[in-house]
Amino acid sequence: MNIVVGITGGIAAYKAVGVVRAFVLAGHSVQVVATDAALRFVGKPTLEAISRNPVHTDLYDGVAEVRHVAIGQAADLIVVAPATANFIAQLAGGFAADLLGNTILASTAPILIAPAMHTEMWQNAATVANIQTITGRGIHIIGPAVGQLTGKDSGPGRMSEPDDIVAAALALAGRSGDLAGKRIVVTAGGTREPLDPVRFIGNRSSGKQGIAVAMAAVSRGAEVTLIGANLEVDAPGQVAVLHVGTTLELAEAVALAAADADVVIMAAAVADYRPESVAPAKIKKETQGDILQLTLVKNPDILHDLSLSKRAGQIIIGFAAETETDPAALLVLGRAKIARKGCDYLVLNSVGWTTGFATDGNAVTIIRASGDIVGEATGSKTTVANRILDVLL
Ligand code: CTP
Repeated sequence: MNIVVGITGGIAAYKAVGVVRAFVLAGHSVQVVATDAALRFVGKPTLEAISRNPVHTDLYDGVAEVRHVAIGQAADLIVVAPATANFIAQLAGGFAADLLGNTILASTAPILIAPAMHTEMWQNAATVANIQTITGRGIHIIGPAVGQLTGKDSGPGRMSEPDDIVAAALALAGRSGDLAGKRIVVTAGGTREPLDPVRFIGNRSSGKQGIAVAMAAVSRGAEVTLIGANLEVDAPGQVAVLHVGTTLELAEAVALAAADADVVIMAAAVADYRPESVAPAKIKKETQGDILQLTLVKNPDILHDLSLSKRAGQIIIGFAAETETDPAALLVLGRAKIARKGCDYLVLNSVGWTTGFATDGNAVTIIRASGDIVGEATGSKTTVANRILDVLL
């Protein structure tokens, strides 16, 4: 999503950095529009480094590209944090005296503001009336929270915490998203099969691509269950993770979650075999000699079983990470795999020692049951995630 974060001039502006950061980490593109007063509280370089974009302030910059309306027109969501009493008054009056005012007037995106001011200002009849006016126009408010303010005083007026603002903003955007109302189960990471209390057989999947799919689906309004197998990165707070370890645990969790899901996306890398028995204590070299022989038994094929038992209308998507680098040969492998698995779509990518795993980018080809290519994407894992969801739609 293209998110505009407006920052106005209050001490809580320093906390806006956390809001920007959380949106960026969740894979969104963030444009910061800060008032001159905001930049007295938080530095432009900080905001540019965190947002990875130039910070916009001046109404008269970028005139050739009609920036005073372009930023608002391109926004999918606008969040103003902190929103001062003065800014709220401007908003109520429909003023376009600065770039943020213009951006908001030129936008049809959902708007969330996080007020921050002293209690007296928040409770002043003027502010109360202004809040009524703007909520009546469909602008959403989060907070203010009750707590310690800048001086010695405390009470209502403290800006809500960045994580709460981000969660509320994404939920707001999601309500109008193209996946609103859809229940999607996403698996991510890689299963591990224990050999003994300290060792396992596993794979190099970090979970990044699956998490990106889950986050993209949340942003687009879906109700997402993320089942994470040994995730090496944390999923952002907007999505709850059900943690599993082994393939059997994953199979059980998927079967439960899939029962009322519209879509299941199996991005997890699943161990096909597990040790026949798990040693109760650490396996010792002294008792094994020069060769250690393991007996592995086959795990269930979750994707295959899911595709066999799926309800009418349910969509099942598999992933196939192959070490084949030739695109034509990769496609042949993919077509054979989708026929074997029986799923509706297969997301094919090439992996190797240095590609695919734990990286921030990916390149995929999406095929459907007939074997036809229905989508391709190269770029960040979020870009790839959104392409998969586009195909799904
Ligand atoms: N998968 C699964 N259960 C398994 C193995 C894989 O559900 N026991 C799913 C994965 O989550 C992925 C897809 O099947 O969505 C393809 O996984 P992959 O490892 O590429 O396929 P395999 O069936 O294991 O085939 P092979 O390893 O022989 O290529």
